[in-house]
Amino acid sequence: MSDFQAWMAAQQARVETALTEALPEARHAPQRLHDAMRYAVLGGGKRVRPLLAFAAGELAQADPLRVTRAAIAVEMIHAYSLVHDDMPAMDNDVLRRGKPTVHVEFDEATALLAGDALQSLAFEALAQPGLADDAAVQLNMLNILAAASGSRGMAGGQAIDLESVGKPLELPELEFMHILKTGALIRASVNLGALCGKPMSEADMKNLDHYAKCVGLAFQVVDDVLDAEASTATLGKTAGKDAASNKPTYVSLLGLAEARQLAGELRADAHAALAGFGEEAARLRQLADYIVLREF
Ligand code: IPE
Ligand code: IPE
Ligand code: MG
Ligand code: MG
Ligand code: MG
Repeated sequence: MSDFQAWMAAQQARVETALTEALPEARHAPQRLHDAMRYAVLGGGKRVRPLLAFAAGELAQADPLRVTRAAIAVEMIHAYSLVHDDMPAMDNDVLRRGKPTVHVEFDEATALLAGDALQSLAFEALAQPGLADDAAVQLNMLNILAAASGSRGMAGGQAIDLESVGKPLELPELEFMHILKTGALIRASVNLGALCGKPMSEADMKNLDHYAKCVGLAFQVVDDVLDAEASTATLGKTAGKDAASNKPTYVSLLGLAEARQLAGELRADAHAALAGFGEEAARLRQLADYIVLREF
């Protein structure tokens, strides 16, 4: 195992423990809802957003306990977005993280409520006192997560995704959709991780934010590529779904080779944005490589 893989495994374990503790126990009423929330969040997923928060936290010399709280908040929003994304009214998927989707394992109403409740729990986690020394910083963090989740972030991107089915989008429109539906939450993960730490200069924050934008877009470009290239077994979700559902993606617009090339360019841009930092940005660099070169 490489040093990076060991680091990832350690952060993933930290996130799993914190999520297990933060989620209501399934034996507490309403049991079925709590069971569905835990099913949606625990024991799966790459935890890319928490990893980005931890890496940005290292850059800012943040207390890992604080970053863990921000990381689980972002992961709860992400898990909620997946639960709703898979529902029949959206992508209508039956497999997620190698298991039946929440609406299949439970039912649609429970899936809807599990998503709702995960979103609220995310903000509860981020609003716990003491996440930053300065309350104004913590308020800013709440603002960042709210904006990244809502109609000018993830939910807005999902709306564009759904209304674009069967429509050939132009590249700028496709980029806008991807930046919102996936990029916004990834960007928030990086910024929240950094805000848990020592104050950074405006220039450094700007460079970090540019890195986050590049990896956020790259992440969805690669998701589109893998949907077309990888197997259902490898992905843990049904492969080939985008083409079958007539979704506009980077692959449908540019083809596989060009989509991969774009991901490579975004990876280079992400590295360039970190050029002013030293070893303290090593994990962020490794994550940019991982996000672009991953196989699932
Ligand atoms: C899938 O996200 C949905 C997108 C936003 C592209 P991930 O690929 O991060 O899914 P998990 O969390 O690892 O299952
Ligand atoms: C989903 O994009 C983005 C979200 C905000 C959940 P996709 O619909 O491509 O994600 P997958 O491929 O189902 O994971
Ligand atoms: Mg979708
Ligand atoms: Mg989907
Ligand atoms: Mg996809």
